Amino acid sequence: TRKTILDVDTGTDDAVSIMFAALHPDIDLLAVTTVHGNAPVASTTDNTLRVLDWIGASTVPVFGGLSRPIVRLDFPAARHFDTDSADDPHGTTLSIPPARTRARETGAVEYLLHTLRTTTEQLTLVATAPLSNIAAALAIDPSIVEAVEEIVIMGGGHTVANVTASAEFNTWADPEAAQMVFSAGFERLTLIPLDATYQALITRRTCTELEELGTPAGVAAARFIDRRITAYEGSLTTAGAAPVHDVLCPAYLVQPDLVTTRHLPVAVETAGSLSVGRTVMDTRPGTTQKRNAHVAFTTDAQALARLLLGVFAKDLES
Ligand code: BDR
Ligand code: CA
Repeated sequence: TRKTILDVDTGTDDAVSIMFAALHPDIDLLAVTTVHGNAPVASTTDNTLRVLDWIGASTVPVFGGLSRPIVRLDFPAARHFDTDSADDPHGTTLSIPPARTRARETGAVEYLLHTLRTTTEQLTLVATAPLSNIAAALAIDPSIVEAVEEIVIMGGGHTVANVTASAEFNTWADPEAAQMVFSAGFERLTLIPLDATYQALITRRTCTELEELGTPAGVAAARFIDRRITAYEGSLTTAGAAPVHDVLCPAYLVQPDLVTTRHLPVAVETAGSLSVGRTVMDTRPGTTQKRNAHVAFTTDAQALARLLLGVFAKDLES
């Protein structure tokens, strides 16, 4: 099993990713750290606690992190398309019962620093949110990269963008943080960009099958994904389906052949205006730039759906 920390801005797709990581036997989920993103950090923390509680995983500690980007005072603008329930168009509260547990007193950055400085074995980081927490920890102690076996990041895009014409939300919402993380010298950085997640669309049919599992995770995943499908209606060429970006990260961890990757130099634009937050991927065959990221370009949607159905059949409480 891989000892793993998730860094999230829960959010419907983070919620599915958290449930996957908590339930899969090959992932030993040490903790979840939260950050601003899909909603203000108080909401992403609350949503995270709700999700863990709902599936009976409330022993996993949650640490609240940064409420804003590390540099920009005016970022991010409100996020509007990752909604959950119809009466809550901004997705600030997931439609599952309130949590009975609370976040730890320790902050996310403090937790990351302490854990990565004291661990006796290398850990895995999975970041599916703006990278503010991880960048802040790196700013304090850049040597923590040595304690990380692999960092898997949902972010960026080469041929696909979402929040602006150039950029994906997570890298756009804290571009300086993203650039710090990309250039920090991690032993292995795997990037799951929109190019891959838009190929891993989950359909309404899979939602029905998830619901029929009758488990807390199956029922919640069906609800969250269904809501995403409604929100994406009309914006994709495939009807009745939506990307569930973040879950592709833990799915890749347990089944690496789910994606095909290319080893490329990747940097984040921090100086531009039209292209701020864009992940610039150097695909030139003869590039002399340092290859710092394994970037996923293709994935198998059916294999992902099968994997989700298998994992969400598990009920921790029975
Ligand atoms: C990413 O942005 C967030 O809203 C989602 O949770 C996902 O991590 C997609 O661009
Ligand atoms: Ca996210």
